[in-house]
Amino acid sequence: MCGIVGYIGKEQAAPIILDGLAKLEYRGYDSAGMAIAGEDHQINYKKAVGRLKVLEELTHGGETMPGTAGIGHTRWATHGAPSDVNSHPHFNKEKTIAVVHNGIIENYIYLRDYLMKKGYEFISQTDTEVLAHMLDYYYKGNPLEAITKVMHRVEGSYALGVLFADQPDQLFAVRKDSPLIVGQNEDGCFIASDVPAILKYTRKVYFVENQEVVRLREDHMHFYTIDEEEIHKEPTLIDWDANAAEKCGYEHFMLKEMYEQPKAIKETLMPQNNPRIRGDEITIEELDMTDDELRAIKKLHIVACGSAYHAGVTGKYVIEGLARVSVEVDLASEFRYRNPILEEGSMVIVISQSGETADTLAALRESKARGFKVLGIVNVVGSSIAREADKVMYTWAGPEIAVATTKAYSAQLIALYLLAMKLARVNNTVTKEEYQKLLCDIKLLPDQVELLLNNKNHIQKFANRYIGAKDVFFIGRGIDYAISLEGSLKLKEISYIHSEAYAAGELKHGTISLIEDKTLVAAVSTQEALYQKTISNMVELKARGAFVLAVTNEDNKAIEKEADYVIYIPKTNAYFTNSLAIIPLQLFSYYVSLGKGCDVDKPRNLAKSVTVE
Ligand code: G6P
Repeated sequence: MCGIVGYIGKEQAAPIILDGLAKLEYRGYDSAGMAIAGEDHQINYKKAVGRLKVLEELTHGGETMPGTAGIGHTRWATHGAPSDVNSHPHFNKEKTIAVVHNGIIENYIYLRDYLMKKGYEFISQTDTEVLAHMLDYYYKGNPLEAITKVMHRVEGSYALGVLFADQPDQLFAVRKDSPLIVGQNEDGCFIASDVPAILKYTRKVYFVENQEVVRLREDHMHFYTIDEEEIHKEPTLIDWDANAAEKCGYEHFMLKEMYEQPKAIKETLMPQNNPRIRGDEITIEELDMTDDELRAIKKLHIVACGSAYHAGVTGKYVIEGLARVSVEVDLASEFRYRNPILEEGSMVIVISQSGETADTLAALRESKARGFKVLGIVNVVGSSIAREADKVMYTWAGPEIAVATTKAYSAQLIALYLLAMKLARVNNTVTKEEYQKLLCDIKLLPDQVELLLNNKNHIQKFANRYIGAKDVFFIGRGIDYAISLEGSLKLKEISYIHSEAYAAGELKHGTISLIEDKTLVAAVSTQEALYQKTISNMVELKARGAFVLAVTNEDNKAIEKEADYVIYIPKTNAYFTNSLAIIPLQLFSYYVSLGKGCDVDKPRNLAKSVTVE
């Protein structure tokens, strides 16, 4: 949801801003813009509809915009269609104050009317423009005073970068409910929506908290509250590899990130310095709960959005199956408004790659407000969810750039398996032998995933046959249904082919009427106890003309009689099959998208980090 970058220092600002925006393009990419403090107290700016490369070309990689302080923005439209005039930065009338914004100003209509009565004219359809005019209204030569006055009047969420023409030696970063960090190196200071934007320049970052303002100068930063009181902050050293935010020779981030899955799984199982499997024991130190406290958990509520929700659906099957603890899984956007019943002994788990998803964050706050403990399963260190949750179990997948998640999803599954095994161990719901087998099988997953990834060629060939498909269906039962949900989402996200996932048993209650001659149905069948049931559904589908692709265990050769095409996954524990079966489905989506010539990493209308409702 919109990316912000700012720089002030010894270097030229525009190339650094463009480089940072390129790393944040996953947040939004319908238009981009930049404002640079020029000579003679002028602000130079350029905005362009379309991908960042349009702005790059327009400014010759930033060369045509000299200056050592500036702010930039890549947009995911909320208010007003993508257009030059709606692109950020936004300005006051004299173009002496520039603002880039991520978030939504909820009372912008009221504020706009108020300002119009004072003679202000608006040229865009955005909510952001009120901020520029309001700053103008309050600005009497003291930027901090004007900014905090505006903060007192606006409602909603915002991460801002602000530049004043008559103060070219300083930049301002402001935050409420939208992510924002600042960083520093020997040559200057940076503003960014997310760490990857500045990872190449510095690892020393400060997390800006709600309703804080940062004044950045070439060689130092000062932090203030909304009441202009100075506060002290400690930096965090980010240990992500800078290459993690580069493609490193892969054609797409998605492909690279799929190939990073074995590593993401390993790191989540055995984080450096803090392995979660120690001998026969599973140690999730971050939980900081005794066995008695774990045993006291009567119910878990898993809350998340998108693929993280799908990981949660798998988590339900695995935790209920192994630990016999009841689990409810909710979409965060539903949970927060449905007045959920949270009973004594319940614990809430929110899952999020970015740690910034607005609905998930709101669900977390709702649960905490009701007095319940929240565990965050989060990938981005120091993100809002990581900071606000009572406990955080990190998935160590590293930065994920492609909009369609792969490695973070795989790491989320691992975190949930570990939790399930830990609960099963303390609740005594698995035998010693079963537990040993689980330990053994979970450790094999990275190599098995690798094996599947290396088998990509035949999936690419198969996928090429389906680039013209109109509809694709995914079916499965139990955990296989959860895999189908994610397989279907991957395909529709990046290839724009209509696809749906169904619990296989539910097909005959409606969906089967959509099956036409040669409609592709991916039948996921990894649960031995349900093989026969799914085969029956496949037969029903084939009788109506469907082409059935089966994804199943390597020992289920009987399926070949009914399926038109079979993809086998290596043998693993029935509870862990999602981690393997999802790999060919990810590859299938990737190659269909590639074959159709879609923008794999930046699918239309989507953003990676959804920080608005
Ligand atoms: C967006 C992304 C999805 C992601 C979902 C939840 O829709 O495109 O890939 O699963 O947000 O994001 P989170 O960061 O909370 O996991």
